[in-house]
Parts: sequence; C-alpha cells; structure tokens
Amino acid sequence: MRKIAVITSGGDAPGMNAAVRSVVRTAIHEDMEVYGVVRGYNGLINDELVPMELRSVSDIIHRGGTTLFTARSPEFRTEEGMQKAVATCKRRGIEGVVVIGGDGSFRGARDLTARGIPCVTIPATIDNDISCCEATIGYDTAANTVIDMVDKLRDTSQSHDRCSVVEVMGRHAGWLTMSAGIAVGATSILVPEVPYDFQKDIVDKMKMSSATGKHHFIIMVAEGIGHVDELAKRIEEATGVETRATILGHVQRGGNPTARDRILASRMGNYAVHLLLQGKSNRVVAIKKDQLVDYDITEALDMKKPFDMDMYRMANEISI
Ligand code: F6P
Repeated sequence: MRKIAVITSGGDAPGMNAAVRSVVRTAIHEDMEVYGVVRGYNGLINDELVPMELRSVSDIIHRGGTTLFTARSPEFRTEEGMQKAVATCKRRGIEGVVVIGGDGSFRGARDLTARGIPCVTIPATIDNDISCCEATIGYDTAANTVIDMVDKLRDTSQSHDRCSVVEVMGRHAGWLTMSAGIAVGATSILVPEVPYDFQKDIVDKMKMSSATGKHHFIIMVAEGIGHVDELAKRIEEATGVETRATILGHVQRGGNPTARDRILASRMGNYAVHLLLQGKSNRVVAIKKDQLVDYDITEALDMKKPFDMDMYRMANEISI
C-alpha cells in the first residue's frame, strides 16, 4: 500500500488533529503518499483532497476541532454518494483510508470497504460510546471541560444556596455526564442508560443532604434526558430550593486536547497506518487495559457497551 487518505468525520472531538498528525507522519515515515480529505465523506464525494506533507500537520497537536473540517454526510449514506466516493479513490489511486470519528463514521468505513476501498477507523467522540473501546479520543478533554465549567457554576450556586441543573452532551450516552458528575461531586446524575425516579433520586437526596447542612446542589443531566428547564422548575417546587438550569452545549466539544487525548490519538493514528500496511482492512482501532487492539468493524458495531453500573452505584453512595 503506497497511497492512503485520512478523513475526520461526524461530530468533531478534541484530539482529532493529533490523530491526523500521527497518521500523516507515520505514513510519510513509511514512504507512503498521504492525502487529507476535506469535510468528512463529502470530501470523497466531491473530490476535495489535499496532499499532506510533514509540515502540513505542524502546530496542530494542541488544537481542538479538526483542521481537515468534518461533516455528517447524508449523501454518503446513498449508493450513488458511495459510488462517487469510490470513484474518487480509484481515480486518485487511494489504496486505503483512515477514518477518524464515531460509530456513524464506522458504518461509512464498513460500506466503503465492502465496495473495494480498504478502511481502518479510529474512535474519536466525546460520547465514549464505542463498545469495543475503553476510551475514545476527545472524551477525557470533554470531561475536563465540563468539570471546569461546573466548578464555576458551583461558586455561584454555593453563594446563593441554589440548585444547578446542568445539561451535558450525549443524546444516547451518559458516560460524559457520569464521569464529570463524579468529578464535580454532583448530588444526582441522570443518564439515558438508567431510569430514574424524580422523588427518590433527586428530591429525597436533596432533602437528606439539606438536613445535614448542605445548601447548594448540582444535578447533572445527560442531553438524552433533556428538559432541564422543566426539571429545574419541578425541583424548585418540590424542594423550595431556588433552582437554575444551564445547558453547556457545544463548548464541550472544543478546546485543547488533554495529554491523555493527545497521546491516545498519536498511538491510534500510528497503529491504524500499520494495520493498513499489514494488509488489514475493515478494522476499528481500540484500547483495552492500555494496550492497542483492533476489531472487525461489523463485529464492533454489533457489540453492546454495558453502562458502568458499579461506577454509577459508587457515585450515588458518596453523593449523600
Ligand atoms: O456525538 C457527539 C455529540 O456531541 C453528542 O454528544 C451530541 O448529542 C451530538 O454530537 C450533537 O450533534 P450536533 O453537533 O450535530 O448537533
């Protein structure tokens, strides 16, 4: 394999740039030619590819977002769109593609591989919802960003004896909400994976800790649960504690990647190129007990990621 391309696709995640840099540098180290695809799979459909040199990826290891831009591409989900992408790869002589993104991007990579373009994927999403992988690129940075913001909210909440209901990103996944919730000492953590009882899990807990002298509260709510304004009103009515809702929003996806994410991204990018060099395709790079491993994309997409109920139980036990 002598000519490959690298794509960032789906929601951006801090550390994507570090992964692109690692792919580009590894490929050049191995005497390969490497192209950057602009704006996710749309770049393959529209033939927007840029040749990458060693210096094309200078000064990006520390930057959030993705300098290759990204997109969710509805056109790529159609047969016509995919055929255009395949035609671009064939015309350009692209023999392999590294796709950096979440599970939606993995489906695209699986479909592209099935049409004769070998792909390897690298998990990058703040949601940490890739079943075969213990930590995705961007998750650690986003958790630290949420912690930073909630620490600031706590100052004002504490000063006013208020309750803050905080919405954290994650339509289908509560990992970010739970990890940040533990780290900020939230009273309650609500995630899509675990049903909750308004009275028992919020009101009673607030009343109990109020009786022991606590007067401000943080309730962390995953985006998938939603309705934080309504929830704040209900909490105020049921407890008498003045309550405000805050939606953190897309700020959670930005910012400089942490050391953990930069290193993870660098390792995964390097591993992905070596997989292609070994003639492997349709693989997901993953990390397990700090070792890099790889899985078949189709098998990885079928795996379920059980929510960490032990961690969730622990969070509840110490949030009294
Ligand atoms: O997948 C990452 C993520 O940030 C989710 O947490 C969130 O639900 C979704 O993307 C938001 O997507 P968009 O930026 O397209 O609105």
